[in-house]
Amino acid sequence: MTAKAREMQAEGINVLSFAAGEPDFNTPEPIIEAAKKALDDGFTKYCPSRGLPLLVEAIQRKTARENKFNCEKNQIVVSCGAKHSIFNTLQVLLNEGDEVLLFAPFWMTYADQVILAGGKPVIIPTTAETGYCPHPDQIKAAITPRTRAMICNTPSNPTGGAWDRNLIKEVAAIAIRHNLTIISDEIYENLIYDHEHTSFASLGKEVASRTITILGVSKTYSMTGWRIGFAIAPPEIATAMANYQDQVTSNATTFAQVGAAAALDSDPALISGMVQAFTERRQLGLGLIRQIPGLSVTDPKGAFYFYINVENHLTGKINNDIDLANHLLENAHIATVPGTVFHGPGHLRLSYATNPNTITEGLARLQTALADIT
Ligand SMILES: Cc1ncc(COP(=O)(O)O)c(C=O)c1O
Repeated sequence: MTAKAREMQAEGINVLSFAAGEPDFNTPEPIIEAAKKALDDGFTKYCPSRGLPLLVEAIQRKTARENKFNCEKNQIVVSCGAKHSIFNTLQVLLNEGDEVLLFAPFWMTYADQVILAGGKPVIIPTTAETGYCPHPDQIKAAITPRTRAMICNTPSNPTGGAWDRNLIKEVAAIAIRHNLTIISDEIYENLIYDHEHTSFASLGKEVASRTITILGVSKTYSMTGWRIGFAIAPPEIATAMANYQDQVTSNATTFAQVGAAAALDSDPALISGMVQAFTERRQLGLGLIRQIPGLSVTDPKGAFYFYINVENHLTGKINNDIDLANHLLENAHIATVPGTVFHGPGHLRLSYATNPNTITEGLARLQTALADIT
């Protein structure tokens, strides 16, 4: 949808895009300066595939300070974005036919990467009523002798749902009882509203020893194009991931790693303006969406997406979310992402990582278009 919206914009059409999964702010200046200086200082060569030592040390400081767990250097692997970290994880973890639990709606990459690694996605549905959090009984019921791992994503793309500490503890206990690996994608950890983030690995050594924590700088520091993410895993898994990556990409871009280290070591004030802006846009958007007849939306507790139930408007010729998203793009010139791609039909995902005028104008267009359809 983002690509199609860009094409239309290039033709001169005033398309308002809510499709992209990235902050609209530029990377903060001190981080850019650090990477520029890194080029001048000669960080232009290969570095260890596991990661540049100065970034690995910054990651150790970051997890101790923010995520409340300590890790050794041999547990860290820096990759070309969190997406790459998850890919490496699944490649080294899964054997053919291993099952991986996913909580729908989920970021579509998970299912495809599980399949690419020879595994089988097993989907556990969640609903708006529980804030898109699973019930522990659903997890127990989905476990078979082939279950190898589960991918937890809190806060979640696309729903903005976030798991509280109690749920995280209960899920971790299930993982221990059934000998499962927890892949904990915490890429949106810093973009939270009225919520406290808990890292699985902070629950103690027993949980940490079966958890692979996926983190990165893309969303928190608006560095999506830098392609730096990292995994913190038990040492033997981290070593397998580093060996695997060594034959595929070698290290992630060396000078970008210097920028990422500057980001992790930066004053939290550097990003507080962005988080404040997202908080205000979230309030603005929620208010406007709730004025549109027939729509419902839960308050996102994290990330920067509205996950809107549009089922009441799926009638007649436009009877699914994909057709609705295409209709909205072509006729109302607003780009959204249909819930079906996240295994959540009947919904649209709208990113509020865009300016308030776009939110106001775009939601007015949505209201008019839905009224015309129904
Ligand atoms: C849930 C989730 N995990 C991981 C990523 C990938 O992050 P990165 O840009 O660091 O690869 C995204 C990007 O959209 C995401 O939404």
